[in-house]
Amino acid sequence: MTHTANPPKIVLGFESSCDETGVALCTTEGRILGQALYSQIAMHKDYGGVVPELASRDHIRRLIPLMEETLAQAGIAMKQVDAIAVTTGPGLPGALMAGCSFAYSLAMGLNLPVIPVHHLEGHLLSPLLSINPPAFPFTALLVSGGHTQLMGVERLGQYSLLGETLDDAAGEAFDKTAKMIGLPYPGGPALSKLAESGNPERFKLPRPMLHSGDYMFSFSGLKTAVLTTAMKLAGVSQPSETMVISDTDKADLAASFQAAIVETLVKKALAACLQQDHKRLVVAGGVGANKLLREQLEKAARKRGVEVYFPELSLCTDNGAMIAFAGAMQLAGKPELLNSRDYGMHTRPRCELASTQPVFSNP
Ligand code: KG4
Ligand code: ZN
Repeated sequence: MTHTANPPKIVLGFESSCDETGVALCTTEGRILGQALYSQIAMHKDYGGVVPELASRDHIRRLIPLMEETLAQAGIAMKQVDAIAVTTGPGLPGALMAGCSFAYSLAMGLNLPVIPVHHLEGHLLSPLLSINPPAFPFTALLVSGGHTQLMGVERLGQYSLLGETLDDAAGEAFDKTAKMIGLPYPGGPALSKLAESGNPERFKLPRPMLHSGDYMFSFSGLKTAVLTTAMKLAGVSQPSETMVISDTDKADLAASFQAAIVETLVKKALAACLQQDHKRLVVAGGVGANKLLREQLEKAARKRGVEVYFPELSLCTDNGAMIAFAGAMQLAGKPELLNSRDYGMHTRPRCELASTQPVFSNP
């Protein structure tokens, strides 16, 4: 990486904002030394979604074993760690509290600095961890379970919000639509898998705000259109969890929904990128794992001379590596953070990335 504190420092990072506990070690040169991840999907599956209280309790259970696994994998002793990075927001309040209480206590006990990390900055920077990382500047499409945003990224720490969703996030729309047609949580991967066998042109679903002339999104109308179509197919006048729809209808509905959401994301992301005069478009967040989105973006971008960058598939959804990396990059750009001993813990369940202060003075 470009920002190198001399000699390289080691950052131990923790992620616990939702339903994944992630721990990783990253150097200020941007090298991941070790990482471990535990996904709570199996635990939440029975409830059809994330149960916040269960999530917090499980993070508490996983943090220490994952940390030990990460250190052992990297062959690094705790005394070699120079700083602790942790996701302070946005996310589920209890889940954030679990990770932050642990990370801050550990830092205080070891007399190490804490580097608070914005979860979305972790996602945003995750493509920089791939073999072919993008150079700055670029436009980023952040598509996760909680967020859908287009950001202009001039350099590390300098982000401007170009547009975002007015209601549901793209991942949330995938999850809710999947639930409507009886697919298991998490809906995104299940729906996109089913869509592979469906006809994306069978149902004409809306592409909300496609021609709004800005970079805003809205997905709740699309979700309602799926519900109305599902009710028609099931021959019922009231929505219910027991609507009976044939497998073919379900697959066609899934494919039509996915086509609508992907078309909107692709068109808006590319328009924002061209308007910013950027030659690179970066996609991050869980929905970035979607195959159709990847294919369509590549295709549309190639036509306009724009290059698209994705994180490694394993780094699309929440993980510790992106948080350790974002923390390490903060430290690389601002080595004086090593002297900070601010243990005033502030979790921020809701917070904007673009409003956070740039931390790098040097591109
Ligand atoms: O980034 P992430 O792990 O968590 C948040 O920070 O929200 O994203 C999770 C979201 C979920 O809504 C999940 O359904 C969606 O990403 N997702 C997908 C796919 N894989 C994960 N959505 C569509 N297609 C996929 N292949
Ligand atoms: Zn996330």
